Amino acid sequence: MDGNLEGRVVIITGAGSRGGQGEAEARLFAERGARVAIADLGGSDGAAIAAELGERGMFVEIDVTDEASWDACVRTVADRWGHPDVLVNNAGVWLMKPLEETSLAEYRHVVEVNQVGTFLGMAAVVPGMRERGSGAIVNICSVAGMKGGGQPFAYAASKWAVRGMTRVAAHDLAPYGIRVNSVSPGVVDTPMIEGGPEVLDALARSIPSGRVAAPGEIAEIVVFLASDASSYVSGIEVTADAALTA
Ligand SMILES: NC(=O)c1ccc[n+]([C@@H]2O[C@H](COP(=O)([O-])OP(=O)(O)OC[C@H]3O[C@@H](n4cnc5c(N)ncnc54)[C@H](O)[C@@H]3O)[C@@H](O)[C@H]2O)c1
Repeated sequence: MDGNLEGRVVIITGAGSRGGQGEAEARLFAERGARVAIADLGGSDGAAIAAELGERGMFVEIDVTDEASWDACVRTVADRWGHPDVLVNNAGVWLMKPLEETSLAEYRHVVEVNQVGTFLGMAAVVPGMRERGSGAIVNICSVAGMKGGGQPFAYAASKWAVRGMTRVAAHDLAPYGIRVNSVSPGVVDTPMIEGGPEVLDALARSIPSGRVAAPGEIAEIVVFLASDASSYVSGIEVTADAALTA
């Protein structure tokens, strides 16, 4: 029972963003011995990042909102390395708008990527995990899905939903040896944070520890939840926000 991931087959969605959390997770999983499928949109940096991981990396183009795209992704990975042991549902989109400024199309897009994408990902990998009697799924939520005040409407709603799906799935899949957990980061310095250093500085001042997180700090938690070091942990929500919501 340890944090070694030698030989594990891992899919991480949204890992094709340079400087994003998915990239940091992909590098850490590969360092610990896993083979990592970087699943992201065609226009992302996923292929280049996968190439940098050498034999431990592969890029799979995916649109997480599309069921057929998920089927193709899991098939591609399984044909090359075997059925995935780990899925990290990390892909996400941000929309900084309150209810009254959110159009139906915008709402649907955020929910399609953040919520439906996570559902489809779990649905795509669970049959194979169930067959083998093991698997670990980590869903990336957000502190925006932990409260109402000051949160962007569609984004927060989608992350609340992912927290709920995580717990229901953890309960239902436990008899089959599949663990499902979530991580809710506070503010992480990634391309998702628009506005440059001034915005990051302002955000840092609102956090009790006085700083935003580096993507690698979230990756450590994801790798822990995917490894046997957390073998008796399922259905939990790890908040990684340096006491922002404390
Ligand atoms: N950055 C933060 O402060 C923060 C805080 C809390 C939670 N999060 C969450 O962390 C996760 C990672 O975000 P990040 O900060 O690294 O952002 P990022 O923008 O760097 O990465 C998001 C990735 O998702 C991919 N993506 C978007 N739509 C997709 C689709 N339809 N199919 C496949 N991939 C798609 C993008 O191409 C991108 O590579 C997201 O779920 C985000 O909501 C971020």
